[in-house]
Amino acid sequence: AAPLRVALLGGGTVGGSVVRMLLEQADDLEQRIGRRLEIVGIAVRRAGRDRSDLGVDPGLITTDAQELVTRADIVVELIGGIEPARGLILRAMEHGASVVTANKALLAEDGASLHAAAIDRGVDLYYEASVAGAIPILRPIRDSLAGDSINRVIGIVNGTTNFVLDAMDTTGAGLFETVERAQSLGYAEADPTADVEGFDAAAKAAILSSLAFHSSVGTEDVHREGITGVGARDIQAAQDMGCTVKLLAICEKVETPDGTGISARVHPAMIPLTHPLASVREAYNAVFVEAEGAGDLMFYGQGAGGDPTASAVLGDIVAVARTRVTGGRGPGASSYAHLPVLSMGQA
Ligand code: HSE
Repeated sequence: AAPLRVALLGGGTVGGSVVRMLLEQADDLEQRIGRRLEIVGIAVRRAGRDRSDLGVDPGLITTDAQELVTRADIVVELIGGIEPARGLILRAMEHGASVVTANKALLAEDGASLHAAAIDRGVDLYYEASVAGAIPILRPIRDSLAGDSINRVIGIVNGTTNFVLDAMDTTGAGLFETVERAQSLGYAEADPTADVEGFDAAAKAAILSSLAFHSSVGTEDVHREGITGVGARDIQAAQDMGCTVKLLAICEKVETPDGTGISARVHPAMIPLTHPLASVREAYNAVFVEAEGAGDLMFYGQGAGGDPTASAVLGDIVAVARTRVTGGRGPGASSYAHLPVLSMGQA
């Protein structure tokens, strides 16, 4: 059978990792999917730049994303932001492509209409990498917990602010000098506004709330307070009470006199050192889920970075590819005949 055509939009850090993993693991992925994946193009913003770093035939690099999305089975959107990402995703779906994206801002703003477009066109829309990088959290909420009833989701979903708060906790230093140190270590961006002011976490809270509560929650519905008001004295006060300060995304079902509703908010909070989220240090992320049947669950791992984020993107690519090849019935029989089984003592 012909290979599945994969088009990438964006050749940045995550895009570079996705390309490398697609090439390095081409044979394994073919085995797992039952069909080969072929990169048919990588759309980049600027023409004429040397992109030999991507390790592909230069003929695959294009600045014409509008054209590229019309000739792919799977479009991987890693540009970020609202436009042109939204228009390109809709155009890809119109041309029959399934879409994998890491775009939290777009999903938080327009998730409902993108899902509607995907259903309309009979294609898949997956976006595991948009929240908490490598951590599998969206598909577990959407699929594995779909038969349960989720009461609350509490996440540390911004690595930059967790790194800063953790460093303040360890060193006793103030906020601004710690942000500067995080910048010099590469943990915080040159313009740290989206992270420090909680915009990044609010978009992720909107996505988590929408999936956990089967609703349409946008970033504007999320109460947002960043970490700029947290000083060394607050951290010390928390320590004195056996607590630590974390920037939390809290998504929960609330009962009001008018019925059940959703509360979604991002703000710094003191949590007791005995809570599992207190152990999330440095730039790590974690999402704590409280469900009726399942009880408490915690998902932990790296929330950013090229390879960790690419891992989530690749997982989505395999999932949508399997839908095309096996109708979504998971790995085909050929996937099981790959490595020999070594019993204990043989290895
Ligand atoms: N700026 C984000 C963070 C990157 O610090 O977690 C991942 O979305």
